[in-house]
Amino acid sequence: MQKTVLVTGGTGYIGSHTVVKLIEAGYKNVLFEDFSNSKPKVLERIEQITGVRPAFVQGDVRSLEDLKKVFDNWKIDSVIHFAGKKAVGESEREPLLYFSVNVEGSIVLLNTMKDYGVKEFVFSSSATVYGDPGYDEFDESTPLAPINNYGLSKWMVEEILRATYKADPTWSIALLRYFNPVGAHPSGLIGEDPNGIPNNLMPFIAQVAVGKREKLMVFGNDYPTRDGTGCRDYIHVQDLAEGHIKALEALNSKPQLLTVNLGTGNNTSVLELVKAFEKASGRKINYEIAPRRAGDKAAYWTNPSLALKLLGWKTKFGIDEMCADTWKWQQLNPNGYPD
Ligand code: WQD
Repeated sequence: MQKTVLVTGGTGYIGSHTVVKLIEAGYKNVLFEDFSNSKPKVLERIEQITGVRPAFVQGDVRSLEDLKKVFDNWKIDSVIHFAGKKAVGESEREPLLYFSVNVEGSIVLLNTMKDYGVKEFVFSSSATVYGDPGYDEFDESTPLAPINNYGLSKWMVEEILRATYKADPTWSIALLRYFNPVGAHPSGLIGEDPNGIPNNLMPFIAQVAVGKREKLMVFGNDYPTRDGTGCRDYIHVQDLAEGHIKALEALNSKPQLLTVNLGTGNNTSVLELVKAFEKASGRKINYEIAPRRAGDKAAYWTNPSLALKLLGWKTKFGIDEMCADTWKWQQLNPNGYPD
């Protein structure tokens, strides 16, 4: 039987790549989106890639009325919840906004699911829930101690989900803790389209390569790492999207609460990523060494073994593919999606 998945934040960066994979895997989708950080054009691009235009409802996850438009009109089997705010700096300036959208939004969504008897839920969590445990390789038993409001909001929703499952173990819930998603669909038709000046490294490098920004600021070169710059576990968004399909398959097999890190297990420094992008693009990436950014840890990555064990999932793509696909997207869409 063809299953119907509600994808909140379905036109966002990770959401859109996952929707393409869901369609390819034979799922029916309903996208729910407020377009606060994405464009309607994404729907057209998904159709261009897959030949399928997904069903779509515009709304706010905090609105029961908006959510009812989905649950009253489709028989939803599972929910993948991407909708949320995700900028660490902004979360420090606007804590209430982050707790409202990320925490309250999740509660309203879960309550609505409960009312309609839908109990299969995949949640976009983040490696940010770990904070800095004093070591670099994180596994799922690493203590949860977020150091910013964004991470705190993800941790709160995790606790709400653990409590929900504990009270009613007929729920089937996956908490997926993402490391650093980068890359784009190999077609170059969908990709990351940040608002304004990118906060994150890969989109910033891509904008320097395409000539939109003059140079990259490298935040610190005196960390205790291979070359002094920060190291992260970058994961190709195509691999990450595939992880969601695997999580849905696992949830479908029996009610459970799954918690897994999604990353490669490798780590790449800022300067190594700059080099790899220069190779992929054939462009020179100008950069300047700047002071460390507050709140940054020198290095961290995942131990990817639990994801392999529980989901049968591991990443396929390396840094070169991440850079090549980001570059293709950036070249085809130098100003992001058109309005
Ligand atoms: C990577 C490295 C920077 C920009 C953040 C969030 C996390 C998750 C992913 C979820 C670091 C350095 C960066 C720049 C630089 N978000 N850098 N110059 O900080 O690991 O994770 O995004 O939605 O919650 O915290 O990713 O890409 O910002 O930084 O030198 O202009 O690049 O110092 O070492 P980060 P990032």
